Amino acid sequence: MTEPTQEMGDMSIKDDKMEAVEEDDIVNPWEVATSSAKGVDYDKLIKRFGSTKIDDALLQRIEKLTGKPVHHLLRRGKFFSQRDMHMILDLYEQKKPFYLYTGRGPSSDSMHMGHLIPFIFTKWLQDTFDVPLVIQLTDDEKYLWKDLTLEQANHMAFENAKDIIACGFDIEKTFIFSDLDFISNSPAFYRNMCRVQKLVTYNQVKGIFGFGDSDCIGKISFPAIQASPSFSSSFPEIFNGRSDIPCLIPCAIDQDPYFRMTRDVAPRMNHLKPALIHSTFFPALQGAQTKMSASDSSSSIFVTDSDKQIKDKINKYAFSGGGATVEEHKEKGGNCDVDVAFQYLTFFMEDDDRLEEIKKTYSSGELLTGFLKKELIEILQKLVGEHRQRRADLTDDVVRQFMTPRKLKYDFPPPTPPSDKKKKKKQKNSKAV
Ligand code: TRP
Repeated sequence: MTEPTQEMGDMSIKDDKMEAVEEDDIVNPWEVATSSAKGVDYDKLIKRFGSTKIDDALLQRIEKLTGKPVHHLLRRGKFFSQRDMHMILDLYEQKKPFYLYTGRGPSSDSMHMGHLIPFIFTKWLQDTFDVPLVIQLTDDEKYLWKDLTLEQANHMAFENAKDIIACGFDIEKTFIFSDLDFISNSPAFYRNMCRVQKLVTYNQVKGIFGFGDSDCIGKISFPAIQASPSFSSSFPEIFNGRSDIPCLIPCAIDQDPYFRMTRDVAPRMNHLKPALIHSTFFPALQGAQTKMSASDSSSSIFVTDSDKQIKDKINKYAFSGGGATVEEHKEKGGNCDVDVAFQYLTFFMEDDDRLEEIKKTYSSGELLTGFLKKELIEILQKLVGEHRQRRADLTDDVVRQFMTPRKLKYDFPPPTPPSDKKKKKKQKNSKAV
């Protein structure tokens, strides 16, 4: 197989039962919980998952290659971990293609700001690197896991697609698909699903995802569905039958188990391993202890919230790291590490200097909680307001265009058939995939 370090990183998960036996933080695709007010310990998570921390050298390399400053979510460590990013940058440097893949499990009609983070960042990646993007809406996953009918889950996928498109994706470069609609009409995708299903045993998914005897068999085979978009051969309309176009997946770190599994099977399918770039979690208004819940409207700001709702929610619910009284705050200062309004600013305020000034004056006690919140309310009202407008301007027809399998603006020359010599060698050496 390939380099041993990479393999070891990927393999560590196999016997890492639900990723949290000895630790107090729980991080898996279905649950994120920590007892620390500062949130999940991301350095520990990197070690446990076997990924690589994003360091200054990587950021500098991106800036050098793209000729522009990196996105503030990267600069501020919101995207903090990666696998094989240097491989992707090597390709970009050589003017070779790659593509982006991300997704969302549609479990509610409306999305909150935390859901938008990966998409905001993915849009920046798409603009910066000028590459195709596929977005998987796992309505099948939500049907299997939640108390929803297939029709409800599929409807949510369509509604969520609108919120995603309203982030500003380019229709010429983006394909969005609902699993329920797309897979049954896509032989190439289904073939890759079958390949993954043949290569992963029940024991392995049990180890990676913690499935038990009473989980339905749909759940057990679902990881093959989330793995398949990592292979360019799943989208012949876009990649013209090529199976060698590398994939970069921006996602929140809780999705990593799916892609450790994918990276483990990829070489055995004669495919490249997908590269990854992971984000931290967006804190709930009540504090960084948990990820936000789409079913609890007071836990987050939704893209459908009115200006007044945004203001009321921030003022009423945003956990404050300030002093209990003005006197105490002036004396002791505020704690930016646990203050949710400040944390939100680190996600949404673009101006580094202003953010630094707020941090200084809030920590010293000079800036009061009310002013900090006011600043955040204004930023969010503007962002959500613009999003609301773009969503309202969108017609169902445009959404359907985004969701139609088609060639994007990129040309891919057809695959070169392997020479006879290579073919013979392949047949001798590898198992049928
Ligand atoms: N399982 C993810 C969720 O529940 C959705 C998803 C599918 C995804 N493919 C992805 C997320 C790729 C990130 C990257 O939200």
